[in-house]
Amino acid sequence: MSIAPDNKSGGDDILDNTLRPNKWDEYIGQDSIKQNIKIIIQAAQKRAQPPDHLLFYGNSGLGKTTLAYLIAKEMNRPIRLASGPALERAGDLVAILTNLSDGEILFMDECHRLNKTIEEYLYPAMEEYKLNLILGRGPMARTMELKLPKFTLIGATTRPAMLSSPLRNRFGAVFQLNFYTQGDIEKIIERSSRLLNIRTEKQACQIIAQRSRFTPRVANRLLKRVRDFAEVEGDGLITSEIAERALGALEVDEMGLDPSDRRIVETIIDKFSGGPVGLQALAAATQEEEESILDINEPYLMQVGFIERTPKGRLATKLAYEHFGIKYPHLI
Ligand code: ADE
Repeated sequence: MSIAPDNKSGGDDILDNTLRPNKWDEYIGQDSIKQNIKIIIQAAQKRAQPPDHLLFYGNSGLGKTTLAYLIAKEMNRPIRLASGPALERAGDLVAILTNLSDGEILFMDECHRLNKTIEEYLYPAMEEYKLNLILGRGPMARTMELKLPKFTLIGATTRPAMLSSPLRNRFGAVFQLNFYTQGDIEKIIERSSRLLNIRTEKQACQIIAQRSRFTPRVANRLLKRVRDFAEVEGDGLITSEIAERALGALEVDEMGLDPSDRRIVETIIDKFSGGPVGLQALAAATQEEEESILDINEPYLMQVGFIERTPKGRLATKLAYEHFGIKYPHLI
């Protein structure tokens, strides 16, 4: 059994409240998104209107929820959390929308997984702050219009292509969160260490950052696991030696690959002669879920240049062969 930290969790809610940035200055990286959102908020405040609905997309753990919380804080407005797949009936959405207050932010995680009927209730709510309810059935059915408070919807998705175009078109601005730089991840680890009273050597921060998949959620999780080691095996100080040992025990390698990443790349190389291999076949051979290959493993493996996605399937690159110490087959 692997004891690698669970990278597969979808929601950002695992991130400790203590670590959530409360001010723009505390939110590290994604500079252009920050600048654009600041302007959208300031302009809306000048007009005394709620900001346009915003859509954030990007891989999980990059801080979409964190950014939504920060916007609510900066605007001094309440925020309500909802999740696409958790809404089963239109009534669930109606209940949320009718309970919002003026200026409130509604954060809809995984909005690509909203069911279509529910989604249609959202359109007039987003456009005109109203709901068209259907009362009764058959010939006796009547529609009723319900006015809603002026809210801002912040939608988040890891799969923007799966969003229906009517929904996508109703967002006033769309932002893609990218992987962070090594330097920004180091700053995030240093900040989290301060907030959690963890003592870390500078070089140890660099080691943890290097294995954090350029992703804040992973960085914070690894930091906490390494702290456990430092407290049990030492006096609490995270030295580079402790960091290396802890990450080795967690089976996270120097590139941040965990056992499931390694299984995927090694399977492409060993069982499919380097590819191309389709997603279904790869999932079956590795016993990983297609969804987690798509959302968790592949984005990072492509970012580090270990796999390529082609129309025929996934290919292992020369870099991947080198990382695993396997001779790259030169095709004639
Ligand atoms: N936690 C998650 N994302 C963060 C960021 N960009 N800056 C600081 N802390 C974070």
